[in-house]
Amino acid sequence: MAISMSRTRPLPPGRRGFPVLGETGDWARDPLKFARDRHARYGPVWRTHLMGRPTAVLLGPEANRFILGTHMHLFSSRQGWSKTITSLIGDGLSLLDGATHRRHRAMIMPALHGAVLQGYAAEMQAQVAGHAQQWLALGELRLFDGFKRLSFDIATRLMLGPQLQDEAAECFKLFRTFTRGLFAPPAWRLPWLPYGRAWDAGQRLRPILARIVAEHRRAPADTILGTLVAARDEAGEGFSDAELMDELLVLLWAGHDTITSLLTWVVYELARHPAVDAEARAEQLALGGAALDAAALKRMPALDRVLREAERLHPPAPGGFRAVVEEFEYGGFHIPAGWNVMYSSVFTHHMPELWHDPECFDPARFAAPRNEGRQPFCMVGFGGGPRVCVGLAFAQMQMRIVMAYLLRNVRFELLPGQRFDPVAVPTRMPRDGLRVRVQRST
Ligand code: HEM
Repeated sequence: MAISMSRTRPLPPGRRGFPVLGETGDWARDPLKFARDRHARYGPVWRTHLMGRPTAVLLGPEANRFILGTHMHLFSSRQGWSKTITSLIGDGLSLLDGATHRRHRAMIMPALHGAVLQGYAAEMQAQVAGHAQQWLALGELRLFDGFKRLSFDIATRLMLGPQLQDEAAECFKLFRTFTRGLFAPPAWRLPWLPYGRAWDAGQRLRPILARIVAEHRRAPADTILGTLVAARDEAGEGFSDAELMDELLVLLWAGHDTITSLLTWVVYELARHPAVDAEARAEQLALGGAALDAAALKRMPALDRVLREAERLHPPAPGGFRAVVEEFEYGGFHIPAGWNVMYSSVFTHHMPELWHDPECFDPARFAAPRNEGRQPFCMVGFGGGPRVCVGLAFAQMQMRIVMAYLLRNVRFELLPGQRFDPVAVPTRMPRDGLRVRVQRST
């Protein structure tokens, strides 16, 4: 894939769509159909116009590797995000580039990887047990909402400690409003627009976070924020208060919305596939109620396959964007600086060249003898390369603990008369939020 002489090549085929909006509506409504229709018309490289920018879409595992791995230097992550996100989140990790990104990432990694994770397991289990009790008392609920509150409570408790206390419910509401504005252009601070409301919510969240940061500076605490406060870069410098606040906003947002989405789809698929559900429950039974610690979590291959298959079919982020900072050639086409590029996880995860019967929920595809999904960059639900999700290990542990607990203790039945077709933005979920009846498992 030569990068020289790029300008002698044609621009990729495609169209601009509507003025200003381009094809953003089609993409947001159904990112998989959007990519498939255009792939059928133009092949694996084409252009469109999304969120106010000309965008080259590069499809398939090789394209994912190019964008996420081998040719990262051609792209900026920060400039690839929309103004709604950069203005609300500031300088959190996903919005940084170059040396600053490497510095922040190296300082955040120890709080979300390795031995410290084990210290989070008991809180995760206590939280899911408490929430499951509430769901049982309710009898019926929109499970997306239940998982959202559970994931938020786990994230805030582990990141910030018990300091939120009385403000937890208020913060949950503020965060919901904040998240709704992230993907809702235009970025105008008007109180009747989702972005304007998100801006106000951010202004109310920041002083609460500032207070908790100050408390952590006064007295070291055994929390993720405590680890971030103590973190030092190679020059011995720590995070400033402003940097910590932006990082907390990103970690709290990315740390609960995505997990909520994926867990909702896991329950949906298990409810529709009783044999898979039975296998996952039998695996938990065989563990004989063992505590959900590191050793037990390694002995759940059936649950792991279910989680991977849900990630393949229902990736919470359908793909990702980068801004092109250096023009290049790809697949025989010229991609100019100033455009965006997009990779599509959801398209890659449905490619018949990579997956047998890709529409089918079939966790056994990940077991021997089939062993699908081994090709690099064919499973990119958590991104890939040096910017792979920094919360990957944390998320995987949390999802295992939550699902293991629920499989051991609870049964969900899907209520009739609801719609399951996915809503993609701001968080991918079944249209009616997965309404379920909850019963204790016998
Ligand atoms: C099911 C759960 C999750 C999924 C599917 C997910 C997905 C992703 C994806 C696809 C990316 C890469 C985006 C790109 O580069 O285009 C990413 C990055 C990121 N994720 Fe996650 N994520 C999950 C959980 C978490 C959790 C629990 C946290 C924090 C505790 C987190 C924090 C982040 C951050 C900060 C980044 C930016 C990393 C960087 O740019 O270096 N995520 N995530």
